Formats: sequence, C-alpha cells, structure tokens
Amino acid sequence: MVKLAIDGGRKTFQEPPVLNPVLRTYPETAALLNEIYFSKNWSFYGKYENELAVKFAAYQTAGYGIFMVNGTVTLECALQALGVGRGDEVIVPAYTWIATGMAPLYVGAAPVIVDVEPDTLCMDPGALEAAITSRTKAVIPVHLFGSMADMEKIMAIARKHDLKVIEDCAHSHGGFWDGKGTGSVGDIGSFSFQQSKLMTAGEGGFCTTNDPELFDRLGRLKHIGYQQGSKQGKSASPPTEGLLCHNYRATEFQAAILLGQLEHLGEDTALREKNALYFQSLLEKIPGLTCQKRGRLATVQSYYFFVLMLEKGALKAGKTRLDVMNALAAEGAAGIGPIWGKAIFEHPLWNVPKNQYRLESSQVAQNFIEHQELVLGASWLMGDTENLDLLAEALTKVMAVYGA
Ligand SMILES: Cc1ncc(COP(=O)(O)O)c(C=O)c1O
Repeated sequence: MVKLAIDGGRKTFQEPPVLNPVLRTYPETAALLNEIYFSKNWSFYGKYENELAVKFAAYQTAGYGIFMVNGTVTLECALQALGVGRGDEVIVPAYTWIATGMAPLYVGAAPVIVDVEPDTLCMDPGALEAAITSRTKAVIPVHLFGSMADMEKIMAIARKHDLKVIEDCAHSHGGFWDGKGTGSVGDIGSFSFQQSKLMTAGEGGFCTTNDPELFDRLGRLKHIGYQQGSKQGKSASPPTEGLLCHNYRATEFQAAILLGQLEHLGEDTALREKNALYFQSLLEKIPGLTCQKRGRLATVQSYYFFVLMLEKGALKAGKTRLDVMNALAAEGAAGIGPIWGKAIFEHPLWNVPKNQYRLESSQVAQNFIEHQELVLGASWLMGDTENLDLLAEALTKVMAVYGA
C-alpha cells in the first residue's frame, strides 16, 4: 500500500530538486554593459537597440522589430498603430494576464472576453467568431504557457470579418507556428521581456510586424513621434496627424542583456521542448492527469510554463486540487499550482467597471482555473530528466492515493 509523505511515508525527493534557472548571466554581456556605461550612449535609437530590433525580429521571422519598455505598452501601441480606438471592440481570451484585456481600454476600446479551448487553453476560434459584432475591430490571441493559439483558424476568421490580429507572444519567445515565428503570423506580434519571462531585461517589450507602414507607426508611437532611426531633435518627418505618441523607449543596457540571451534562445527552447515531450510521455502512464496540448501546428513549441491538468472526475470524492498540491509539496515538489488563480475579469487587479467590457464566454477557462490547473515553472525543463522522473514518481504516488 502506497503511503504518501504527507501521511508520514517516505518523501519522493530526498533532496530538494535542483532546477536550472531559465535566467543566466554571461561574462560577455557584463563586458558589454560596462562598455555601454562608459560610452554614455544609453538610449534613443542606440546601436544595441537597433541591433536587437533587427536580430530578434529576424529570429521570429518578422520583417521589422520595435523595442519598448514592456509587453503591456506594446499591446497598446499595436492597437493604436492598427487604428483601433473609441467605440471599437477587441476580442481577448478569458485566460491570460490582465494586460491583454487592459490594452484595449487604454485606447478607448472595449475588451470582449471569450473562452479558451479545453486542451490548448488558448482562445477558442469558435468562441471568437460567435463574439464578433459590427464594432469588432481586432482580436488578441495569446500563445499561452506551453501552447499556441490556433493561428490558422483565427487568421481565417479575421480575414473573413476584416479584423486586425495582434498575437500576444509574451510567453512565446522562440516559438514557431507552421514554420513561421510567433509574432509574424498576425498583423503585429507583442512580446514581453519582464523579469519572469523566457528572455528578460528586468522589463522590456517588443513588437514585430511585416508591414513597413505599421513599423513606421510603431516606431513613432514608442518614440514620441520621431521617425525610425532619427537623431534626437531631428525627425525627418512628423507623425501622421492624430497619432498620439508616447515615450516608451527602453535603454541600451536592456538591449545588451537581451542580445546575450538571444544567442542562447535556440538551444534553450530546444532543451525545454525536449524535456516537455519527455515529461508528457511519463504523464501518459498516470491515470487522471494530462497536460496542456501544444500548438496544433507548432514547429517549435516554446514553454514558458508546463501545465499539468487534473482530468475531470480524476479525484476521489472529498479530494481537491489543493490536496494534490499539498501532497506534492510534502513529497518535495513544492511550488506546483495555479498561476493567476482567476480568469481576467475576476482577477483582483482587473479594476474595470462592468460597462466598459463585455463578457461573452468563459466557462472552460473558469473550470480549468478552479479545478484542474497545476503549473510547473520552465526551470523544471532546463536540466536533465532526473527531476522529471522523480516528479512523475511523486505524481503517480499522489494519484494512486487520491485518484478516483
Ligand atoms: C500573456 C501576457 N501578456 C502581456 C503581458 C504584459 O507584459 P509586461 O509585464 O511586460 O507588461 C504579460 C506579462 O506579464 C503576459 O503574461
């Protein structure tokens, strides 16, 4: 008879798992930061900002890139660049970070919240189509955690209804959908380089596009109206009338840090993907557990998190997801659990009056968040497979006792 550690049995992890951090430091980057410091050239279309814009866009197979301060203003600027504004509706998924849903409000538009697919946890194309009205102008699918929104279906719906598409790629650095980099399939891609992300400079954001006109507008929006590549005080031409621009410039220091990480993005993404597939094969042997399904046409699936799912009816009566989390922690696998804990419109920071957004559908997202969600950080996927073997052992034990 299996005895769980929480009931006084032997712990699965005799030592805490040693997880390799996603975020690493490189001496070459430190040398570059030192050089930038003494150069006194720290911002304003600097050398490294320009290099990052070209190189990261190219990595994601997009024609153009624009580096900004974070992955929230990138969404705001993307909407502005596409001409979305007051009176318009923008469709967003119910399960994402609140920034995806707040961005439309910043430009005076209303977010319309739709449900996600039960397997990928990304925007459900059927729910998207059902929510379209004559006011709908844009849609923001999110490539969430370890999956991708179905860009083939979403693009077909968007083209049919003349909607603009902004891919929220905050979790998808290095991801490829059907041979194309994420962020290069829709009209604009939006990346975040915030502290927890797969590439980070503490803060930072990035837009990708293939359209030279959008590139011009995005550059101006982030750069208080200056044309791409201008020197301070010398913009060759003013922005189009009515384009209200911001100062959302990031610095040379951040660009240098990201350039160092970009060198390792390919190998790191491949390692995480290989380990995710390995772990997925172990999960197939554990009754009651599955995982988030990778992007349907993923050529390379980027993993920001690995999402375990408790199947419906998987647990004995009286046992909950919280019991599973506590039992896993007692086995030595702490920190596995929900991420945001709520759908966007229920999140405590979603401080939006009810008349400023429309909730269209969210049942799948809410059910998943409440009952099924067990999330592992990407560092579980950064090392060898020993930790994953032990984690599968711990999950097998817990499900043997708590499973229906
Ligand atoms: C899906 C998603 N979109 C947008 C953002 C916003 O990015 P940032 O924190 O850089 O503003 C985040 C992250 O934090 C995110 O997870």
